[in-house]
Amino acid sequence: MSYEVRFVDYPAHYRSMESEIDSAIKEVMLGGDFILREHLRQFECNCASFLGVKHAIGVNSGTDALYLSLLAAGIGAGDEVITVAHTFLATVGAIVNCRATPVLVDVAEDYNMDMAQVEATVSPRTRAIIPVHLNGRMCDMAALTDIAQRHNLAIIEDAAQAFGASFDGKKAGSFGLANCFSFYPAKMLGTAGDGGMVATSSDEIAARLRALRDNGRVMGQDEVVCFGFNSRLDNLHAAMLNVKLRYLPRWIERRREIARLYDQGLSDLPQVKLPPPPDDNGPYFDVYQNYVIRCQERDRLAAHLRESGVEVLISWPIPMHRQKALALDHFHLPETERISREVISLPCYPELSDDKVEYVIQAVHGFYSH
Ligand SMILES: Cc1ncc(COP(=O)(O)O)c(C=O)c1O
Repeated sequence: MSYEVRFVDYPAHYRSMESEIDSAIKEVMLGGDFILREHLRQFECNCASFLGVKHAIGVNSGTDALYLSLLAAGIGAGDEVITVAHTFLATVGAIVNCRATPVLVDVAEDYNMDMAQVEATVSPRTRAIIPVHLNGRMCDMAALTDIAQRHNLAIIEDAAQAFGASFDGKKAGSFGLANCFSFYPAKMLGTAGDGGMVATSSDEIAARLRALRDNGRVMGQDEVVCFGFNSRLDNLHAAMLNVKLRYLPRWIERRREIARLYDQGLSDLPQVKLPPPPDDNGPYFDVYQNYVIRCQERDRLAAHLRESGVEVLISWPIPMHRQKALALDHFHLPETERISREVISLPCYPELSDDKVEYVIQAVHGFYSH
């Protein structure tokens, strides 16, 4: 089906910086600089200073960022890690793949971890908490830091959807021991394939991660320090991401502008629950990786929008703890289940014009007008 408004417009995104991306690619190709080279080093430095952390370590995906962070933090068999079910599979998968046990809590109205529920799930085996900053909005890190400190737990942020977001003026990825990003193409900062990164201010965690991503090797050293993996961020991706990082602040502003347009255009519909607004939002600086609305008649609205030429996304129609193959159905998470029935993500990306936003708004109104 051809859509009037795509959910993401990759060609338009590329065209908006075509010559810079082309010269970055050419530089890498002509230099033959592919693995663990200067563009990666530069990108890691740029990210570390953007985020306000000491180290950034490029890896091959957000999935590996989570898995390797947990390993680097020493999480393994017999340990429990608290997180949410309303997230992408990789968050919980990383815990399971480390042979630790996931303990899932429900989410609150803003789709993020319900901090009021976290403390009751802490047990003597709990070692870490993974807050997931969903849709470009951070979790309440004041409440979470307080709980983690009182129980001596590590925080591993899943900031895959929140590059550039902040809480109380501090960036996502700068709160926890090791904090994870994804450069999947549709993310705030996306590459032309897979990529990820861990941000940390711990020298020890950074050293372990650098070894883990490169089969246990340490640059310039003959002796290896452990068995590891091949999970490096390619220099080619880093070169493109270096170009894109310069654009990120203005992209974030455009996403926030689009959120304001949607807020204005949809606020007269009592049937539709809107996300928290970008302004007057206390300690939260949201970057709208996704603009998510919620309504009772979600499936019919989604079908109507698609028929009207608007491509929308539903994340995630089956809650993770209800996926039979994952054997997590002992958790009772009523809000997660409700959300899975009610949410729709509308198109929201820097290249989306005001006219197209208006088209989407009218399409939503069209559904409720008959
Ligand atoms: C919340 C969350 N965590 C983890 C990931 C995994 O990232 P990747 O797709 O780069 O492996 C994603 C991306 O889809 C995500 O949205």
